[in-house]
Amino acid sequence: MHINKMTIDPAKSIPAFYAGQSIFLTGPTGFLGKVFIEKVLRSCPDVREIFLLMRPKKGLSINERLEKILNLQLFDKLREERPSNFKKLIPISGDVSEKGLGLSAVDKQILVERVTIVIHAAASVRFNDTLKYAIFANTRATRDICILAQSMKNLKALVYVSTAFAHVNNLFTEEKAYPPIADWQKMIDVAESLDEHTLKVFTAKCLDYAPNTYIFSKNLAESIIQEYSSFLPCAIVRPPIVTSSIKEPVPGWIDNIYGPIGFFIGCGKGVIQIGCCNKYVHENLIPVDIVIKVMLVVSWKRGLTSFSTDSNLLVLNCTNEKCTTFQYDIKMVFSVANEVPFEGIVWTPNVILTDNYIVFYILTILLHILPAILIDLILKFSGRPPMLVRLMKKVYVANRAVSYFSFREWKFSNTNQLALMSSIPPDNRDMFSFDYSDYDLREYIKNSIIGVKRFLLYEDLNRLDAARSHGKRYKYITVFECIYLSLWLKPSSLLVYCG
Ligand SMILES: NC(=O)c1ccc[n+]([C@@H]2O[C@H](COP(=O)([O-])OP(=O)(O)OC[C@H]3O[C@@H](n4cnc5c(N)ncnc54)[C@H](OP(=O)(O)O)[C@@H]3O)[C@@H](O)[C@H]2O)c1
Repeated sequence: MHINKMTIDPAKSIPAFYAGQSIFLTGPTGFLGKVFIEKVLRSCPDVREIFLLMRPKKGLSINERLEKILNLQLFDKLREERPSNFKKLIPISGDVSEKGLGLSAVDKQILVERVTIVIHAAASVRFNDTLKYAIFANTRATRDICILAQSMKNLKALVYVSTAFAHVNNLFTEEKAYPPIADWQKMIDVAESLDEHTLKVFTAKCLDYAPNTYIFSKNLAESIIQEYSSFLPCAIVRPPIVTSSIKEPVPGWIDNIYGPIGFFIGCGKGVIQIGCCNKYVHENLIPVDIVIKVMLVVSWKRGLTSFSTDSNLLVLNCTNEKCTTFQYDIKMVFSVANEVPFEGIVWTPNVILTDNYIVFYILTILLHILPAILIDLILKFSGRPPMLVRLMKKVYVANRAVSYFSFREWKFSNTNQLALMSSIPPDNRDMFSFDYSDYDLREYIKNSIIGVKRFLLYEDLNRLDAARSHGKRYKYITVFECIYLSLWLKPSSLLVYCG
């Protein structure tokens, strides 16, 4: 059923607010972007159009990329319920790392005339980008989004997707803007004027204040939004670590292997046997569909409020209040993975989590590097390309990169989050409420594993019995491995060892 704009007050209906709106979304090909597109087209069916800032990649044009994305199973429900809504997607060529977002003059003019809501979600999320690239893609791009938004004729809301870890120096992060760790204008000037080599000197200095260039550049981007919020109806949404969907459009949707999901897959396949973290640290994970609902409700709220120069910047920590510890999560994952095992495991799924760096290094050599060298040699002699040593190097680098986060814990206020939730019109709670406090973690993990198997690894769920028998063969090896390790390692340094 379509919304009758004449009769429904947008303050009482989120879909009515979105009816007729033109959204400009950056980052539409990413994990969050795709789920955002699906949700808007399905739950706000009368949206006028969504402009998607995209760049060609891996030999595919932006139209080919969009076509490929829309064929994903993520869009099956929408295909069934509202197939004609796909026509509302308009790809626009751009690159956020370029000055002015790499937009053509013609496209810029269209955006200026038509866009009413901007969702800026594009970012380079790599922790090890050069300072120059991180500043260009994450900081300068945010400034250029604000400049573009200033010329938009009917802008109602600009939502910036930040990260809950943008202010890591505050162990308690409130839902407010913080003073930046550096001057964003100067940093953009520096990144534009200095060559990569000279910038390396600056990088070391910048990383005194942030664990990596990603956090540094996102922190500066927040301060840009804060500054422009005197002229624009801005809001900041800060998700922590985003994981598989809890419900929409299907439970368990995932299409990237970043963060804990990659770690869990590696463990589930028996490739990863060691993790470096503090077992008592709580992992702040949030399902992707919850984040998308928050973004939509924030933009609705911002768009409803008439803007004046002293309007407050709306900041929302989109964090999980009921998060669990690494130890708890990994045990739960293994217990569920016994029910729904991965296919083609290379070793019995086990993981030793340790907070002792020396133990971590030794075990990396014993359980990751040496077996990888052996398997690569076998691959080489049987005429297949070796790959495990390379993979293990990546696992090691990733482990080190996230250790800053796996040894510390942050707390977040959620006053704005709760206030926003209670402002959702009762008729819209089914579709837009982001309250999931009554969720069952085991059920969520089970759906996430099934989702990984279906959407990421393309495994056949009818072959679970075969996967279980394959897994059993490795059990005996694990018993030997366990005896061997316990002979010379202090049991206290071993955190979890489960098969
Ligand atoms: N996922 C999380 O756990 C998480 C947590 C906290 C905050 N966030 C924030 O949420 C936002 C979305 O993250 P995500 O998980 O969806 O990341 P993602 O899957 O890596 O997607 C990033 C998106 O940004 C686009 N992008 C990157 N560089 C670009 C460039 N130079 N020009 C044009 N587009 C570019 C990517 O396009 P291509 O496909 O062309 O590369 C992609 O669409 C980001 O701002 C991130 O900082 C994410």
